[in-house]
Amino acid sequence: MPLSSFLLAESPVTSLEQYLELGGGKGLLRARRIGPEATIEEISRSGLRGRGGGGFPTGAKWASTRSVPGRHYVVCNAAEGEPATFKDRTLMRANPYQCVEGLAIAALCMDAPDAYLGTKAKFEVERLSLELAIQEMDAAGLLEGMTMIIAAGPDEYLFGEEKALLEVIEGHDPMPRLMPPFQHGLFATGPQMGWEAHAPEPGQLASPEANPTLVNNLETLANVPHVLSRGSERFRRMGSEESPGTIVCTVVGDVARAGVYEMEMGSPLSELLEVAGGPLPGRHFKAAFSGVANAVIHASDFDTPLSYEAMKAIGSGLGAGGFALYDDSACMVAVAHEYSRFLSVESCGQCPPCKTGSAEITAILAKIEAGTGSEADVGNVGRRLQTVTDANRCYLGTEEQLVVSSILQTFPDEFATHLEGWCELPARHLPIPKLDDIVEGVAVYDERHARKRPDWTYAEP
Ligand SMILES: Cc1cc2nc3c(=O)[nH]c(=O)nc-3n(C[C@H](O)[C@H](O)[C@H](O)COP(=O)(O)O)c2cc1C
Ligand code: SF4
Repeated sequence: MPLSSFLLAESPVTSLEQYLELGGGKGLLRARRIGPEATIEEISRSGLRGRGGGGFPTGAKWASTRSVPGRHYVVCNAAEGEPATFKDRTLMRANPYQCVEGLAIAALCMDAPDAYLGTKAKFEVERLSLELAIQEMDAAGLLEGMTMIIAAGPDEYLFGEEKALLEVIEGHDPMPRLMPPFQHGLFATGPQMGWEAHAPEPGQLASPEANPTLVNNLETLANVPHVLSRGSERFRRMGSEESPGTIVCTVVGDVARAGVYEMEMGSPLSELLEVAGGPLPGRHFKAAFSGVANAVIHASDFDTPLSYEAMKAIGSGLGAGGFALYDDSACMVAVAHEYSRFLSVESCGQCPPCKTGSAEITAILAKIEAGTGSEADVGNVGRRLQTVTDANRCYLGTEEQLVVSSILQTFPDEFATHLEGWCELPARHLPIPKLDDIVEGVAVYDERHARKRPDWTYAEP
């Protein structure tokens, strides 16, 4: 049976009492007993990798952030803005206690008195469950010596980008800052270039240090108490050598049963799709996207294991484990246009090649989709794709490059028919799979995004 219940128990955990009965709290107790250094070593031994999309080794991130001198902060990234991804909200609903316990262990390891949870203001149910869990755990004395603050942020995709997340927690717009969180952490004074003009005034909160800040995805942190309480060896018994553990996957799009399913790492993508009921009646899969940050996965690669290394080997990536499926009735030119439009609208514009480049690519793709494009237009898309990543502060421009160029390379015939002025596929509504909810096997997309303009305002319906 490929389904796992390591993080997602069969029924939600709704009280601290229930959580403690299930063995909750033991990870934090052990971390307090063995101390930060040994705890970080245990996380490193487990091979746990960040579930926010990049798969960065968690133990190495913790060790290097701790090694930077200064006042430390920790942040749980619960912004969940990646299209086709609903796993962090599922985890918050199913068991907020393990997320808070994981963050508490991270705070302990960084000697950080303040821990933040950055989540969207519109995730009301999830915020409430986190709030209640924090209150209960605090009242039980589990969070002694630390303060947990929930920061409610905007709906923008960039809110989940770690450098933008810190800006939001500080009360600004989600515009990625220049330096990474361990070099320019929360509430540090102007050390974008590693220096400042003057020492802080008396009473000023800011400090001259970089305030090295640890940012981890919520699912990453949810794994931490289990690694500590059950041991790194037990964790390594699941998954592959390079990608141990489980991954909480989202499946939406052209599938029978959209949903969130926890899988052991290393299970083939095709098994996940079987769990999601396979394709719709009479159809067959054509392609999948793991969010909007990786190259398209052709259906002929659906036997690829769900691991960072295997997904990389086919030229794509596991991302945050959220998959949008497209069947043989979907036009990939329309999909390329929709994904490019999403990234272009969400680009913040601090780096002109990203904002203007992705806007130009989107405009040309619209023309090609409408059947009025030319070979020269395809050449212009190719040229723009080469420069869209220039001098970028964050990875969004690279996402545009990876997604659009991979669709062009994988489905050249579909572009060719569009250049001839027609499309053999049925006209279909193919919205960006930005999720508001998944209810009984049906994904609810945020259709409002179709009206979002490049300046982040919305057109009237
Ligand atoms: C445009 C963009 C959006 C992102 N959105 C999210 C997000 O919603 N949630 C998340 O955890 N990470 C997101 N990330 C990744 C974070 O920047 C960061 O790598 C992650 O929170 C690190 O945690 P991890 O090491 O536990 O994976 C995003 C990255 C980019 C470039
Ligand atoms: S790369 Fe794009 S989204 Fe990222 S900071 Fe620059 S303009 Fe903004």
